Amino acid sequence: MPVITAPHEFDVQDLFVDLHPIFGRRLYLKVEGFNFAGSIKLKAAREIVAQAEAAGVLGPGSTLVESSSGNMGVALSMLAANRGFGFVCVTDPRCNVATRRTMQAFGADVRVVTEPHPTEGYLGARLRYVRELCAADEKVVWLNQYEAQGNWMAHYRTTGPAIADRFPHLDVLVIGAGTTGTLMGCARYFREHRPDVRVVAVDSFGSVTFGGAAGPRHIPGLGTSVRPGLLDESLVDHVVHVAEADTVRTCRRLAAHGYHLGGSTGTAVSGALAWLSEHRPDGRATAVTIAPDLGERYLDTLYDDSWVRDTFGDSTLADGGEPDERRAAR
Ligand SMILES: Cc1ncc(COP(=O)(O)O)c(C=O)c1O
Repeated sequence: MPVITAPHEFDVQDLFVDLHPIFGRRLYLKVEGFNFAGSIKLKAAREIVAQAEAAGVLGPGSTLVESSSGNMGVALSMLAANRGFGFVCVTDPRCNVATRRTMQAFGADVRVVTEPHPTEGYLGARLRYVRELCAADEKVVWLNQYEAQGNWMAHYRTTGPAIADRFPHLDVLVIGAGTTGTLMGCARYFREHRPDVRVVAVDSFGSVTFGGAAGPRHIPGLGTSVRPGLLDESLVDHVVHVAEADTVRTCRRLAAHGYHLGGSTGTAVSGALAWLSEHRPDGRATAVTIAPDLGERYLDTLYDDSWVRDTFGDSTLADGGEPDERRAAR
């Protein structure tokens, strides 16, 4: 075990779960939640902050502001506490209570935007609030995870190579899309080093990232109401959209086998299974997808029966967790 002097030095990079015993497919899950930020966002936050510190934009005494549905906020709260700068996280009501409290425990100032923008949803409202904070105080620094190059570069340097090294015969890489930092970093790495590997993006219905119509979404992590500036669709071979009810079913099915993981893991696994059923029904393709965080942050939502019943209806609980609404978008 390593001895560390800063929390961001520890990150489990080499843990993969074989999902064949659960889903009967050659599908592997790269688990990213085992670090002090509790999610894959540690990687992007570390890179973005290091680049800003190196450029002299950020340092002790600065106050960082960021819009986050949760995990980036936690990662930046942790880094800010350790590196000696202030942090304001602008979020919305979908950010769960445990995540909000974790940020506050690190000393962050959490602002919850309660009214969505009429056309650009909560994200549009959050970004407007961030711009107002920056305009009001020149010491406030916004690194903007939706545009910062460090966001995808972190995954180009770490996540992509870790998958490629462990799976020399990989056929399909399936990545959930939020800011698209993970997707873009991994897709660029594989395009350059393993161009034979298909890159499949997974998004939620109701997200506008790949041009779909905006609609209600309840689970943070994947999907956007404003198209992310980092996205280059030419690096993506296919896009799969997943209904949130299937996200819930898949998360609960994983938990029933002892893997308690976050919402976007259910979306990514659902999307991977849908793509494999449609494009590689022979079962011979090897696929990898990513579990961006663990399940504790979702105890009040995905893993709460009343919340699931109220949000998606009884059938999501009643069918034993079998996804049945998966649809390949293209
Ligand atoms: C739980 C979870 N899943 C998935 C993602 C998506 O990652 P990215 O922003 O790199 O697209 C995030 C990012 O916020 C996340 O917090």
